[in-house]
Amino acid sequence: MYRSHSCGQLRASDINKEVTLAGWVQKTRDKGFMIWVDLRDRYGITQLIFDEERTPAAVVEKAKTLGREFVIQIKGTVIERESKNKNIPTGAIEILVSELTTLNESIIPPFTIEDETDGGEDIRMKYRYLDIRRNPVKNSLMFRHQVAMQVRNYLSQEGFIEVETPYLIKSTPEGARDFVVPSRMNEGQFYALPQSPQTFKQLLMVGGMDKYFQIVKCFRDEDLRADRQPEFTQIDCEMAFVEQEDILAIFEGLTRHLIKDIKGVELSDFPRMTYDEAMRTYGNDKPDIRFGMKFGELNKVAQHKEFKVFNDAELVVGIAVPGGASYTRKEIDKLVDWVKRPQVGALGMVYVKCNEDGTYKSSVDKFYDQEDLATWASTTDAKPGDLICVLSGKTHKVRAQLSALRMELAERLGLRNPEEFAPLWVVDFPLLEWDEDTARYHAMHHPFTSPKPEDIPLLDTKPGDVRANAYDLVLNGNEIGGGSIRIHDKETQALMFDHLGFTPEEAKAQFGFLMDAFQYGAPPHGGIAFGFDRLVAILGGQETIRDFIAFPKNNSGRDVMIDAPAHIDQQQLKELNIKLNLQ
Ligand code: AMO
Repeated sequence: MYRSHSCGQLRASDINKEVTLAGWVQKTRDKGFMIWVDLRDRYGITQLIFDEERTPAAVVEKAKTLGREFVIQIKGTVIERESKNKNIPTGAIEILVSELTTLNESIIPPFTIEDETDGGEDIRMKYRYLDIRRNPVKNSLMFRHQVAMQVRNYLSQEGFIEVETPYLIKSTPEGARDFVVPSRMNEGQFYALPQSPQTFKQLLMVGGMDKYFQIVKCFRDEDLRADRQPEFTQIDCEMAFVEQEDILAIFEGLTRHLIKDIKGVELSDFPRMTYDEAMRTYGNDKPDIRFGMKFGELNKVAQHKEFKVFNDAELVVGIAVPGGASYTRKEIDKLVDWVKRPQVGALGMVYVKCNEDGTYKSSVDKFYDQEDLATWASTTDAKPGDLICVLSGKTHKVRAQLSALRMELAERLGLRNPEEFAPLWVVDFPLLEWDEDTARYHAMHHPFTSPKPEDIPLLDTKPGDVRANAYDLVLNGNEIGGGSIRIHDKETQALMFDHLGFTPEEAKAQFGFLMDAFQYGAPPHGGIAFGFDRLVAILGGQETIRDFIAFPKNNSGRDVMIDAPAHIDQQQLKELNIKLNLQ
């Protein structure tokens, strides 16, 4: 038996017990006649004491040789600690050691393995297995497990069955690039790793599974950000014989359950907003509604004066920054510089100080009088003491720019409280999205999403106005999940492929298996997928998903610990019949 107790288990009630513990040496303090060692395992830290008077001399000598991260086993007696440590659960006791075995030595770790470490991000990623010994990372992984368990419990209780779908599949266009895997047995052919199990879950509905879920890895070769990894995990679901309402109800239930069970917070509201409204009032399809600062469109009240910049703009829009009237000229100049950064891309910013005495002072006083500015204030809901920030230009660009400014200011003003949870369904997404690069429409969600029946006639006249039966779940300004009601008949699917610019032959080559399946009694169906890493991170009060993934990739998509991706040897390439053409 390696141990009788874990390092997080013993309390004052265990005093006088003979125990055996095993773990890692976190720290030693050698006072000459006494040595203390903090012994750590996943469950906690227990203090060991080696005392010249009470511990055999040979054991004390051996304790002097212990280094950081040595793996040891000890036997000893639980005794009361003289100076208690209230910060840890085992802080009332220590172990008077009688036997010490070194199970394994350790070379000096490259950073200190404590809550506050001296290791930077790069070094911690390279030695991730050491980082995982630290509480913050270990706790995040345990937290992730807890959320996964709750998801499985909830969905199982609702009658969902977890079914695994293949990882070696066929390349399908779903927005991002595929990671591909060459096939040795089928020369010149490639599998693709799934961007999601989308088509398989639809086939499971044709197969009569009725309610499917899977906590599943997905792979997308796309540019990385704090909330994106090339391989990530979805809670993927699909249901047969359902309408949008049925799906929203189940996943609203799941979200409530998780936030209640894990955070102890009972959600009251679960509002909905159309995509159009989200874009108009927040400039964004994933608005953070924990705070206001809603957009006020000012075209009507700001155009047709002498100010050319606004007159020429497609959209003039502003937000009120609470308390911003007190910003100094320098602070406002800095804000203007911030919106002019290439990442935001605004050409400039007009501002209005709403003074406490009810007067206004703006950067465009030459063109607008007090009465004009009062209408700006009422349109943006600005109160005395606020600052109105106004941007103008092409609608979609200006919305993105002002939305970035809104989030930045909210962050600075401390309005994004991680302990507050504000979910939101965004519904009625457009079916199609114009792509400038390829000069054609793309499916905004994916090609299997059904259009709203009443909008189908618009497919020929105004394709961009057709709304889809598609929805996203947004939590605190993050897109947690997305889904749709699917097309389940061959004709509508063919119509959709046609509008997406697929010839019947191309559609058959890519999705023949799905179109075939639809001829054998496909039930009406729909589903959703939550980004599991994102959900866990937000429930954990953070927005960087890397911290909740055991072995994440860095921003260049590399695993710096195992040094992947890497070259493969000539023999492997030969077997795959691949010739590299590197410059
Ligand atoms: P979608 O593409 O919207 O839908 O993906 C669902 C959710 O997955 C998360 N997500 C990511 N998380 C981390 N890193 C990434 N690179 C990444 N990409 C996406 C997001 C997103 O909301 N098959 C459809 C679902 C359906 O229609 O049922 C799909 O994959 O939180």
